[in-house]
Order: sequence, then C-alpha cells, then structure tokens
Amino acid sequence: MFDAVARRYDLTNTLLSGGQDRLWRMATRRALAPGPGERVLDLAAGTGVSTVELARDGAWCLAADFSLGMLRSGRHRGVPMAAADALHLPFADASFDAVTISFGLRNLVDPAAGLAEMARVTRPGGRLVVCEFSTPTWAPFALVYGNYLMRALPAIATRVSSNPDAYVYLAESIRAWPDQPALATKIAAAGWSDVEWRNLTGGIVALHRARRP
Ligand SMILES: C[S@@+](CC[C@H](N)C(=O)[O-])C[C@H]1O[C@@H](n2cnc3c(N)ncnc32)[C@H](O)[C@@H]1O
Repeated sequence: MFDAVARRYDLTNTLLSGGQDRLWRMATRRALAPGPGERVLDLAAGTGVSTVELARDGAWCLAADFSLGMLRSGRHRGVPMAAADALHLPFADASFDAVTISFGLRNLVDPAAGLAEMARVTRPGGRLVVCEFSTPTWAPFALVYGNYLMRALPAIATRVSSNPDAYVYLAESIRAWPDQPALATKIAAAGWSDVEWRNLTGGIVALHRARRP
C-alpha cells in the first residue's frame, strides 16, 4: 500500500493536514531532543520527511522503513536510509540513543511487538517518542473531526493521492486506534518507563515520550 502512495505522499499529507504536519514534526524533534553525536533511529520513516527534521540539530539520524517505494521517493533528501522491518530490526541490542516513530506505529501489524523491538535496540536510559494520530479531547471538536475523517478526507484524497483507497484505510485506522491513556499503557507494557504524553492540535495528534529502563 505504501509503495502505491509513495509518489505523492508528502504533498497529500500537507494538504490533508492543512499544513499542520510541519508543526507536528517540529514538536516531535523537540520532544526527542536529539543532540550532536547521538544515533537516532527514525522507524517507519517512509520518504524520510520525518528524518530530515530530526537531523536538524546535528544528530546522526537513520530512516528505516520496509517500503522500498517510500524510501526511493525520499532519496533526494540525502538522509541515511535502511530497508528494515520494524518487527525484526536488523540492528544490535542497545545500538541507538533514541528511537522515534511518526505516523507509523498504527500501521504495524503488531504494534506491541514493534514497541518491544524499539526497546531492544535502544540503550538503557535512551528515549522513545511516538508521534501518532490520537483522540481530540474536546467533544464538539471531536465530532467535527470525526466527520472530516470519514467524509472530507477520503474525498480530498481521491483528487490528490495516487491511491485513494489508502486514505480510506487511514481514516478507519485512526478511528480504531487507542486513545492517549490506552496507548501509554501499551508502551509501558512493552518495556518502557516514565511514559507521558502531550496533545497537539487539540488531540488530533499525541506525542508519547518514554525512557528505556
Ligand atoms: C504513514 S507512513 C509514515 C512515514 C513518516 N514517518 C512520516 O512521518 O510521514 C507509515 C510508514 O510505515 C511503514 N511501515 C509499516 N509497517 C512497517 C514495518 N513492519 N516495518 C517498517 N516500516 C513499516 C510504511 O511502509 C510507511 O512508510
């Protein structure tokens, strides 16, 4: 599916999010706070659009994804890239200072197994940030957003995306995804400690942060 949307992925995201995606990526970098000399894994990085933002402060950031189509579409960005399955990462234990995943955890066949793999490759004391769609906290806004997701979003995607069905999946997968506290519980159950979160854009997106014990 991601190979099929790769060509216009970045443009479609910016249109569907009304340009908010840039702010969400900046907030993710600030939450992870990657510094010079650090090794950072950006998992399910797709075209590397999340990775370039993370690398802005001088950390070495690796974009890993299992869709070769997505990686190819982002080759012009010049970030280091690896073809890798999030459920069986080809990296040694404790080989990264920080791991992050933006709009990817929801797409893993087994998110709990992915979270455990991320813990395995992170050094003790290392950080995790999950940037993912979540649940708006103010009921009237949640209602409007629910309508946008199920009606407007697929309609816009039909005009812009190279694979509109993928955006019907997007809307359905967001609705089925656990809310902020439920995701925090899953992250802790996968071996992470000090789990906390913060909402972006009224809870359309949440940033969950945790530490590897
Ligand atoms: C919505 S895109 C997110 C891309 C990018 N992180 C961003 O912020 O725009 C989700 C990505 O998850 C990847 N993905 C899904 N399952 C995966 C897995 N098991 N291993 C690696 N990547 C996976 C897909 O190939 C896709 O590129």
